[in-house]
Amino acid sequence: MGCVNDGEAVVSTLRVGVIGTGVMGTDHAVILDRFVSGAVVTRVSDVDGDRVAAVAARLSGATVSPEAFALIADPEVDAVVIASSDATHAGLAIAAVRAGKPVLCEKPLAPTLAEAADVARTVERDGPGLLSLGFMRRFDPAHVELKTALAAGACGAPLLVHCISRGVSSGPGATSESSITGSAVHEFDTVPWLLGAPVVEVSWHAPRRSGEVDGLQDPQLILLRTADGVLSTVEVFLNARYGYDVRCEVVGERGVLGTTSQAPVIRDAAGTRSSGYPADWRPRFADAYRLELRAWVDAVTTGVPTPLATSRDGLVAAAVSDAVITSMMAGGGWIAVAVPTEGEGG
Ligand code: NAI
Repeated sequence: MGCVNDGEAVVSTLRVGVIGTGVMGTDHAVILDRFVSGAVVTRVSDVDGDRVAAVAARLSGATVSPEAFALIADPEVDAVVIASSDATHAGLAIAAVRAGKPVLCEKPLAPTLAEAADVARTVERDGPGLLSLGFMRRFDPAHVELKTALAAGACGAPLLVHCISRGVSSGPGATSESSITGSAVHEFDTVPWLLGAPVVEVSWHAPRRSGEVDGLQDPQLILLRTADGVLSTVEVFLNARYGYDVRCEVVGERGVLGTTSQAPVIRDAAGTRSSGYPADWRPRFADAYRLELRAWVDAVTTGVPTPLATSRDGLVAAAVSDAVITSMMAGGGWIAVAVPTEGEGG
């Protein structure tokens, strides 16, 4: 198969290498294998040998690459999905871009602003447009409809946004900082994407701490002020216990728009109406992941424009995370968001 978007070769099937075969990498690899025409997963890599072998066995034509950088250099790989742990993203993304290979990197671009700036600079210099970032709310039908309705004036001018991000239990090693850089960061992209205005200042607040978990402040409340004056609240609660629950509501001058939870079945029994919550993000965002991966493959193979987040969007979200952590370290208070300009940071 020819190389991608070289202006001459027509790409028939995009050969994708997937790095990291945990929860997200497995999901992405299986979606690419079964639900995205025009793509095939040829290589998978993970530091956990048993895990990666099990995932390779589920795919139609993938073999195990011994190591992530070898996967990036492999001539049987045209494009790369990075779904390994957050701390690995920057180094792998830089290597993929330098190899001239399109890359879909899971969020965050990097856990620190300095690393995110390194990646963004490398993309600008060595491969403009080569990197897309997995801020999948941009493909979630509920969030897309919310944005469309807002733009059509369905609730008048927006005044307030409320984002809720609750999970069942935090993963191993979760900290107050990783709640921000790994979870709340979704909303740091969603809010400016919805409003069309950048986040200019932030403040961090600690409610009473849940006694269900040690070692981190959970929940957290973050306020974002965008350049249009709208105030957004972001509740991030990793150990909410009852289920995975992500919602967004926009309060406008003439009404309120909000996403609904998408439980497919309502149960009426014993005098009660109830519906369920998923245990994690996969059922809630299943459509979004499929649409995102399809859009990425289409963008890489045909150059069609997509709403995929770019390295610049990832850098901006990292700058918001950095400001929120600064506010947290200071015990709260407003902090201005400073996005490094080209050549800065790192
Ligand atoms: P996970 O812990 O289930 O999987 C991560 C995998 O990466 C593990 O199998 C680990 O062995 C592997 N890994 C670590 N270092 C590696 C290296 N150098 N080379 C190859 N493999 C390596 O984590 P999960 O939940 O799958 O998250 C993966 C990424 O996806 C993270 O960056 C996370 O922030 C992001 N994520 C995105 C979500 C979204 O909705 N967009 C949802 C959940 C996670």
